[in-house]
Amino acid sequence: MDDLLRLARTMMVRAYAPYSKFHVGAAVRDEEGGLHGGCNVENAAYPEGFCAEASAIAALVAAGKRRVTECVVIGPGPEVISPCGGCRQKLREFAADDVKVHLCGPDGLHRTVTVGELFPMSFGPHHLGRS
Ligand code: THU
Repeated sequence: MDDLLRLARTMMVRAYAPYSKFHVGAAVRDEEGGLHGGCNVENAAYPEGFCAEASAIAALVAAGKRRVTECVVIGPGPEVISPCGGCRQKLREFAADDVKVHLCGPDGLHRTVTVGELFPMSFGPHHLGRS
């Protein structure tokens, strides 16, 4: 996960978060091993900003990929960063329940969880008759 963490750190530095001042970076590995990163991007209409995880997933899809096989999220503080509800739903769309999500801080790895642990009993494509 070192390569993912390195990219996520770079993303965190690039975050545009003048309102919350809470810089977050994320990086995901796709089904072919490629890496995609994203950061949070805020704007003056506060709820319209988007999260680092959402940006990284958007970058993966924009690159023509469809599956997340590993994910790193890095936040600025000593507290374990925890993806918001919306990001758990977004991640769940592209990642299986056993995919690892590494929650990191400036000092490195804080905790590793799976997508299924982050978001049990999630609503998903199967509810709509999709696999
Ligand atoms: N944020 C993320 O980008 N990812 C998370 O996992 C948690 C929160 C962002 C959203 C907002 O720009 C800032 O952090 C403060 O909530």
